[in-house]
Amino acid sequence: MRNLQDKKIILGISGGIAAYKTPELVRRLKEQGADVRVVMTQGAQAFITPLTLQAVSANAVADSLLDTQAELAMGHIELAKWADLILIAPATANIIAKISHGLANDLLSTLCLASAAPIAIAPAMNQQMWHAEATQTNIQTLTKRSVTIFGPGKGEQACGDIGLGRMLEVHELVELTTQHFANQQTLSAELSLTSLAGQHWVITAGPTREAIDPVRYISNHSSGKMGYAIAQAALNAGAKVTLISGPVNISAPQNCTLINVNSAVNMHQQTLALTTDKHINVDVFVACAAVADYRVDNIAIQKIKKTANNDTMTLNLVKNPDIVADVAKLSNKPFVVGFAAETQEVKRYAKDKLSRKNLDLIAANDVSNSKQGFNSDDNALSVFSATEQFDIALANKTKVAQKLIAIIAKQNKNIK
Ligand code: PMT
Repeated sequence: MRNLQDKKIILGISGGIAAYKTPELVRRLKEQGADVRVVMTQGAQAFITPLTLQAVSANAVADSLLDTQAELAMGHIELAKWADLILIAPATANIIAKISHGLANDLLSTLCLASAAPIAIAPAMNQQMWHAEATQTNIQTLTKRSVTIFGPGKGEQACGDIGLGRMLEVHELVELTTQHFANQQTLSAELSLTSLAGQHWVITAGPTREAIDPVRYISNHSSGKMGYAIAQAALNAGAKVTLISGPVNISAPQNCTLINVNSAVNMHQQTLALTTDKHINVDVFVACAAVADYRVDNIAIQKIKKTANNDTMTLNLVKNPDIVADVAKLSNKPFVVGFAAETQEVKRYAKDKLSRKNLDLIAANDVSNSKQGFNSDDNALSVFSATEQFDIALANKTKVAQKLIAIIAKQNKNIK
């Protein structure tokens, strides 16, 4: 089977020694059925000639933004629209910096800006350049924009250094490209099947604040991004959405009903009022909020003063009501999805919460990793039902939310 049949791939080649491997890459991509158009930077042409790539791709090679003849044949905007994927291999530190900053001063960087196609890059550079803070910041920027990073590999480099920075081998790049299209297909199939029309989803998001006195509170690092992304994904799929949110600094999606709350008790009241209202039918409840487990027993009416004699102070805490567990206890309960924020033994603790709180699904995130979870743009989830596990790989929260609602919709349908 040809895994890349009819896929239109722009192969961007920038100026690194690994460019010598690109004729082989073109051949292997074509072997899998892809139509490959090569775009070269000036630097790339110091390592390999356009003629070689023209011969193996059977297409004219584009290398200039301002070439009148090339623009007559297939202009750069046309080329940008043509592509299903822009694959940059090798991707030097320079092209990575250019695309992360949105520069458009040559054909390849311009195409990256002008195209709606996904971009994948295969970094290739000296190990010190790869580890440089500037390169790592640029890579993070690109990851947040959903650019896929293939590699780099580890090993001996052309300069004699040993470490990370080698371009992946041709067969690995072909495999990852195939995987990219397979993932896209699965996601778009899942999303096109996810219609939530006629459903009402209630979602909690953000932190709670538990007052100590009129000016102080106990809270956590939740930004609301994950819960708001789920609300947006559910709205996009046609659901009516009520978002019950703790205090955050982001805007709620348009067209959702927003209920602002502060404390866990407040969030509990609002959630139970909605889910027990006989005139409102809630189909799905997603508890994404980071709710404080305890609140201060006696909130001081006046600001607590520092005393000269005491170097320590004690706050008496009492347990908050468990919102998600209480919704799951209702006789006409909606489909209930909890979250589990864990720093260790993620799977075991999440499964324990699933059964203890009587949930239909639980989405577990490892919040010990600063690149995901609390207050990050990205997340990765392991979603558990009583019998199954679904993994959502690290991606920005918009993508993660889309995948999560597809899983919830499918599981909810199975139960009904
Ligand atoms: O907001 P972001 O910065 O985007 O970060 C997202 C997130 C890390 C907050 C989110 O992905 C997440 O994990 N949310 C749940 C955080 C949490 O409180 O987890 P927990 O393991 O302590 O609680 C388990 C479940 O019980 C959660 O669904 C929680 O909403 C719910 N709960 C907890 C206590 C309580 N009193 N009532 C509840 O409903």
